[in-house]
Amino acid sequence: MSFQHRHLLGIQGLGPTEISFLLDLSDGYVEQNRSADKKKSSLRGRTVINLFFESSTRTRTSFELAGKRLGADVINMQVSASSVSKGETLIDTAMTLNAMHADVLVVRHPDSGAVELLSKKVNCAVINGGDGSHEHPTQALLDALTIRRRKGRLAGLTVAICGDVLHSRVARSNIHLLNIMGAQVRVVAPRTLLPSQAARLGVEVFHDMRAGLKDCDIVMMLRIQNERMRGNFIPSIREYFHFFGLDYEKLAMAKPDALIMHPGPMNRGVEIDSDLADDYERSVIREQVEMGVAVRMACLEVMVDNLARDRDAHA
Ligand code: CP
Repeated sequence: MSFQHRHLLGIQGLGPTEISFLLDLSDGYVEQNRSADKKKSSLRGRTVINLFFESSTRTRTSFELAGKRLGADVINMQVSASSVSKGETLIDTAMTLNAMHADVLVVRHPDSGAVELLSKKVNCAVINGGDGSHEHPTQALLDALTIRRRKGRLAGLTVAICGDVLHSRVARSNIHLLNIMGAQVRVVAPRTLLPSQAARLGVEVFHDMRAGLKDCDIVMMLRIQNERMRGNFIPSIREYFHFFGLDYEKLAMAKPDALIMHPGPMNRGVEIDSDLADDYERSVIREQVEMGVAVRMACLEVMVDNLARDRDAHA
C-alpha cells in the first residue's frame, strides 16, 4: 500500500509515488465502470456520508456513485434541511455523524481550512470535496488521470491553467499535482484574477492568452467564481471573453493535439466558446466527468483500507 494517509485533505504534501498509486488504482475502475456489471463489494457494510455546505453536481454525485459501486451505504446530507439551519456548527454536525459510526465523511465547505479542522475532531476518514479557494484534491486527481490516459504521461507536458486562478481551489490542487509529477505549469489570467505571489506557486505567469497558450499540450479553463468575489474583478463579461475566453483562434497557438479541459460547471461564452466546449476532437470535458467516478472509487477504497488498518492497530 503506497498511500498511508488517514485523510485526503489536499494534494500539497503528497509525493509522486502516492499520486501514481491513486491514479493506477483509478485506472482499473475506469474499465469496471464501462462494463455492464459495475458493482463490487469491497466497501460492503461501510458508511460514506456526503456533507456538502456548497452546491455541487459532479463531485457529490460521483462520490455517491463511487460509494454505491463499491457496495457502501451512502448518505447525502441535505445541509439546508439539517440542524445546521438551526445554528448547529460544522464541528458539532461532523461529530454527530461521526458518532453514528460513519467510515468516510466527504466534505465540501466554503471556508478554506474548514475540512482540515473538521478532520481533527472525528475518528473516521475525511475527504476534502473542496474547501473555499484552498484545495479540491479529487478534481486534480481526475484531471491527472484524464491527461495521463490521453497523453501517456504527465512529466514534461506544458499545461496552461487559464482564468480565475485567484478564487480557484481546482487551480491550486492542479498546480501542486502537476508540479509534483514533473509537468511545466503556466497560469494565464488578468492581474486582478491572480494571487499576488502567483510565481511562488512554481508556475510561469502570463497575462496574454496567445503567449500563454503557445505550444502548450493542455489548456485547462477555469470558471469565473462570482460567488467568491467581493467587488468587481473584470470590466465586463464581453471584454473578458474577448481577451481571456478560449476560442478557436486563441487555441491555434497551442500544439495541434492540445487537449481542452474544464472542471465544470462551465459558463459558455464567458471563459469558453460554446462550440469549442462541445468539440470532442479537442475537448475532454466529458471524459473528466467519467474519470471522476473512478478516482473517487479509488480514494474511498484506500481511505477505508487505511482506516481499518488504524483501527486494527489500536484494537
Ligand atoms: N468540478 C466540480 O467540483 O464540480 P461540482 O461543483 O459540480 O462538484
